[in-house]
Amino acid sequence: MKIEEVKSTAKTQRISAHTHIKGLGLDENGIAIQMAAGLVGQEMAREAAGVVVDMIRSKKMAGRAVLLAGPPGTGKTAVALAIAQELGNKVPFCPMVGSEVYSSEIKKTEVLMENFRRAIGLRIKETKEVYEGEVTELTPVETENPMGGYGKTVSHVVIGLKTAKGTKQLKLDPSIYESLQKEKVETGDVIYIEANSGAVKRQGRSDNFATEFDLEAEEYVPLPKGDVHKKKEVIQDVTLHDLDVANSKPQGGQDIMSMMGQLMKPKKTEITDKLRKEINKVVNKYIDQGIAELVPGVLFIDEVHMLDIETFTYLHRALESAIAPIVIFATNRGRCIIRGTEDIASPHGIPLDLLDRLLIIRTLPYSRKEIEQIVKLRATTEGLQVEDEALQTLGDIGTRTTLRYVVQLLTPAALTAKVNGRTVIKKEDVEEVGALFLDAKSSAKILTQHKDKYMK
Ligand SMILES: Nc1ncnc2c1ncn2[C@@H]1O[C@H](COP(=O)(O)OP(=O)(O)OP(=O)(O)O)[C@@H](O)[C@H]1O
Ligand SMILES: [Mg+2]
Repeated sequence: MKIEEVKSTAKTQRISAHTHIKGLGLDENGIAIQMAAGLVGQEMAREAAGVVVDMIRSKKMAGRAVLLAGPPGTGKTAVALAIAQELGNKVPFCPMVGSEVYSSEIKKTEVLMENFRRAIGLRIKETKEVYEGEVTELTPVETENPMGGYGKTVSHVVIGLKTAKGTKQLKLDPSIYESLQKEKVETGDVIYIEANSGAVKRQGRSDNFATEFDLEAEEYVPLPKGDVHKKKEVIQDVTLHDLDVANSKPQGGQDIMSMMGQLMKPKKTEITDKLRKEINKVVNKYIDQGIAELVPGVLFIDEVHMLDIETFTYLHRALESAIAPIVIFATNRGRCIIRGTEDIASPHGIPLDLLDRLLIIRTLPYSRKEIEQIVKLRATTEGLQVEDEALQTLGDIGTRTTLRYVVQLLTPAALTAKVNGRTVIKKEDVEEVGALFLDAKSSAKILTQHKDKYMK
């Protein structure tokens, strides 16, 4: 199952807070453009993040760590996600929140280790026996259901594949018909089918059909050369965690390679340290043989002050290991007590020895103009119209409270506007919801003013 595909169907229904971010918005010299790729202002942090991206791309940063530090709502999570966008989908990016390690079922260090391995990629080049070509024919052959009843079942599929050299007709198992449907294969597509596993991969639409439709989204690929049945170099990107999962329940003597076809099964299995060691061994062997290449990705730990001294220690050690990703931390805490200790205070709640090896990127509060720009961006993303005057009011409130608060006011303000029979958000809508919902600062103020009225 592909998560991306599932998401795209719910486009306007639910929008998470960072959907407007498409990248870091830097120019070719790595200088931040004031407003680009969904990011506004915060130039220094974005440029620093750009340097980090370059280092990751040139593989100079494995086992290093970066900390994004700044007050709430200054775009730390936003910048981290922008880094993910810049790296693209070939470099693994594993986001987590510090508090995720606290689970009653799984050990804290186990959660960390799993995420650690999700952030390390492996690019494997394999030579596989495949049938490749442009689909000229695709006919499921049906027979009466052998179990009786009325339905018909597909007994096999006849598929015609064409290359520059010739054509071949194949009679395939019905299970392959399912994968063909999953990949949405039609005649005119270029595909390959792995001879051993029966896995189907759609590469794109054949060049011959390039003029047929003018769909920009389509990727056109040339008619494959050579025979239909051949050996082909296939590149596969997996993470170490994928390998752990795939191998935690090996079925009957298959080796690690053939298990890769069965990845992504969302089944909970136990992954032991021993298994991980085995996998590391095989992975190292593949790397030495030049079959595979290590792609250190990013482990992003948001709200890092939620980790405790035990997990920090574990992390520190894991960072020293030969196979380690780049770790990006984010926190809005100043000096505070490290969790799990009685009274050891430290900047950002991170132990000093770990802090010592971090590169720290600072995020600063936004100016009024920047707040207005961001609110406007969010409004467009959420499909809301905001009058200029309302935008200014939001900017006003934003400078007094936080960016997050005003971004959050947008949705209730849109509802108020709707109640009043408008589609455009006006100043009065903003004021109305601003009076209804408090921000954290004013709430804290009220609490101190009326201490005696609350229970302790
Ligand atoms: N520079 C920016 N450009 C565009 N949008 C931004 C920018 N900074 C923050 N945002 C948006 O503002 C909202 C709050 O920012 P974000 O969640 O990144 O803050 P944060 O620093 O992680 O805060 P916290 O410390 O509370 O976790 C998000 O919706 C985010 O996408
Ligand atoms: Mg955050």
